[in-house]
Amino acid sequence: MSITAVLIPGDGIGPEITAATLRVLEATGAELDWVEQQAGVAAMDTVGEVLPEATLDAIREHGVALKGPCTTPVGKGFRSVNVQLRKAFDLYAAVRPVRNMPGVETPFKDVDIVVIRENTESLYSGVENEITPGVVTSMKVATEKGCTRIARWAFDYARQRGRKKVTVFHKANIMKLTDGMFLRCAESVHADYPDIEYDTKIIDAACMRLVQDPSQFDMLLLENLYGDVVSDLCAGLVGGLGVVPGANFGDERAIFEAVHGSAPDIAGQNLANPLALLMSAVMMLNYLADKHGDEQLRQAAQRIKTAYDAALTDGQRTRDLGGSLNTSEFADAVIERL
Ligand code: NAI
Repeated sequence: MSITAVLIPGDGIGPEITAATLRVLEATGAELDWVEQQAGVAAMDTVGEVLPEATLDAIREHGVALKGPCTTPVGKGFRSVNVQLRKAFDLYAAVRPVRNMPGVETPFKDVDIVVIRENTESLYSGVENEITPGVVTSMKVATEKGCTRIARWAFDYARQRGRKKVTVFHKANIMKLTDGMFLRCAESVHADYPDIEYDTKIIDAACMRLVQDPSQFDMLLLENLYGDVVSDLCAGLVGGLGVVPGANFGDERAIFEAVHGSAPDIAGQNLANPLALLMSAVMMLNYLADKHGDEQLRQAAQRIKTAYDAALTDGQRTRDLGGSLNTSEFADAVIERL
């Protein structure tokens, strides 16, 4: 059975890392058909809008996409493509697994954290107002529905993956209504999961603990803005943005993408590390394997994971990890080990 997925190369380093990732996927022989669509500045330049209807239609039809990063120009007139996509398909659960990688030296050992970020609410709801010149506001939105479903998603994930503990980071001591609701909903959902440990921490002190000893954390559950910031912090614990994959899940659809952005400083030079996107593609293969009961895709995912772990163990690394390989050479190193 052949499965179709949407491929969005994106901006900056996006086309380079998607090309490298695709080469690795193809080398496994995994039966996947790709429909390529544009988003971001690349789409603006060709179609005249950052998120063309054709891209939305393709994701609606096929239900799954692998996406390169999209540049969001700072300033007026641009709504982030990522925020729009998450809203359009109600992709409310962002999952970012962060673990030590073989051969990547960091100050920390035994880091194995899964960050679950609520992806649709909080300060990313995009409700901003100019009250009067010189006075602007941004509205933080939390709904009982949104807070409850992300908590349930997190505890379900914990149970399926044999995880032991979910810790909520919050600032409910200050934002009593919004973060208070996030906490209350998580606590009430936890009542249905007595087999999973549950803990709460005020986010400022929790960040200090994270950088002192990340091994004490298992799964983190955070509202949107905190999840965005803390997942990059966690990336820093294990070697940086080049080694952290991500996925955005709704009940019907999913988009897989690295945590990092379009890295304009190194774009077009074949320097970027394709690993985070490749790891996101592995998450996608496992998702499709579950969805379609396709063992061939699961095996392809496992083979890629073993191959990139082996490449890193053998010292095959890109510059961001202290090595000297370029984007395509790292892809070659993985393919050699498949
Ligand atoms: P960034 O993640 O693009 O870059 C931060 C630093 O990490 C840069 O020094 C970059 O060279 C490096 N870096 C990132 N990915 C790398 C990789 N794969 N290999 C080697 N080095 C890598 O973050 P920045 O500069 O804040 O954002 C640039 C653009 O990306 C912005 O327009 C932003 O809105 C967008 N962005 C898009 C995301 C997405 O599409 N999911 C996520 C985050 C940012």
